[in-house]
Amino acid sequence: HNGIIENYSELREELKAGGAVFSSETDTEVGAHLLNHFVQTGLEPMAALRATCAKIRGSYAFLAIDSKYPDRILVAKNATPIVIGLGEGENIIASDIPAVLGTSRRVVILEDGDLAEVRADQIAVEHAGKPVERRPQIITWDPVTAQKGGFKHYMLKEIHEQGQAISDTLLGRIDHATGRVTLPEITYTPDELRSIKRIMMVSCGTAWHACLVAKFYIETFARIPCEVDYSSEFRYRSPVIDGDTLVIAISQSGETADTLAAIDLGGKKSKTLAICNVLGASIPRKVPNTIFTHAGPEISVASTKAFSTQLTAAYLLAVYLAQVRGTIDIDREQQLVKELMHLPAVVEETLKALPQIERLSRKYTTARDFLYVARGICYPIALEGALKLKEISYIHAEGYPAGELKHGPIALIDENMPVVVILQRSKELFEKALSNLKEVESRGGKIIAVTDTVGSKELHAAAQDVIEIPFISEFLSPVLLTIPLQLLAYYIAVFNGTDVDLPRNLAKSVTVE
Ligand code: M6R
Repeated sequence: HNGIIENYSELREELKAGGAVFSSETDTEVGAHLLNHFVQTGLEPMAALRATCAKIRGSYAFLAIDSKYPDRILVAKNATPIVIGLGEGENIIASDIPAVLGTSRRVVILEDGDLAEVRADQIAVEHAGKPVERRPQIITWDPVTAQKGGFKHYMLKEIHEQGQAISDTLLGRIDHATGRVTLPEITYTPDELRSIKRIMMVSCGTAWHACLVAKFYIETFARIPCEVDYSSEFRYRSPVIDGDTLVIAISQSGETADTLAAIDLGGKKSKTLAICNVLGASIPRKVPNTIFTHAGPEISVASTKAFSTQLTAAYLLAVYLAQVRGTIDIDREQQLVKELMHLPAVVEETLKALPQIERLSRKYTTARDFLYVARGICYPIALEGALKLKEISYIHAEGYPAGELKHGPIALIDENMPVVVILQRSKELFEKALSNLKEVESRGGKIIAVTDTVGSKELHAAAQDVIEIPFISEFLSPVLLTIPLQLLAYYIAVFNGTDVDLPRNLAKSVTVE
């Protein structure tokens, strides 16, 4: 069982009153007892499963085997993903596509409310008591990309795959003859896109950071006011949205429960669109338009290549909206596209900073608190760097806009507090960030500077360590500046001996609230 049975305590009391003896406090055990109860009343396994699901409230993906029929697995799905990989003489049930890729690329994705009986050579799906056909989808992900391929961890492998993942996300979305963006997956008409007055973006975690960068793209290129909200907040307030609002959800998995609920709410009144990595996931099935990132399977809990492809997709979308709404001219569009096409190659260049980052990470493994600061479009990158570090190394880290330092966090700074400063090449912001950095230096703080400006004497004088990476453009430098932060978090976690790919208390897809 994956998910949460919301009414488990009342069901538990009922079952106990009927003689059931529980050996745990879990909601899952309630499901097993309930199913057993119906089987004991003489129902066939599928009928017992139907009766069980009728009594359960909540989100669940259940698998069950009746010992009398060991050749079949019963499946029930509601608001928690289930996929069935169709193999030769075997079928495999899992909660995510990568798990079945070693066996099959033909995958049946169950819908909410589906029940299924799966045997080695056949599957029978039913919905609301009636048989239904769920056509298999062909997954083009290469099973090899779901293996570690010589890297110590999936996370390190996925960091290295970012150039390729971005290239794949660009495929078919740039018209090379004209140098312009083309997004055939957007089915809203140009008039509908021109009628949008406001954009609301919803998501969680790393995808939320991608939304914060996307806001810069959309507001600068397409001149549409854009707000960003956590899905878990958006869904429980009364957002002011209407037919002229476009609600955009970004989600790697397409299964995050809060984002699913937020986009569902958005779709009741507004236009909706998703940026998602997993074909056939629940979020893309809720919206009329999805831009799929082609990052391939992301296995490590810490999101890396999903983030860079989310930024790529958001950039494409913003340029496309600008094109349709006439807020940029062709020359500007061609320039933006040219820079974007250059991105995969510069990602590869950026990865050359790895040995330096591995070396310097050793110095910081014993620090217990980190501050990450940046300005403008790189502020979300400070948040992302801090999130990466805390989730895989369990070291406390916070991201702040650099201008906020003197409004509180500067009180924390001493020689035990490393401060990661992200300085983007921009005359105005670079100098401002430099002066923030000097404030940290004068309080004894240890500075790690990450920048796309090479050879700044002032920076080298003030910072303990300077990581210099190539420059690409104002709007794409967030993608590159993230990479050293991913590597820094990775190596600090490795030197601390944590379980990098499967950090404690975290799941890859958060399918419950
Ligand atoms: O699958 P999603 O993109 O919707 O997931 C959202 C977050 O749970 C996810 O980004 C999480 O924050 C990552 N573990 C961060 O590395």
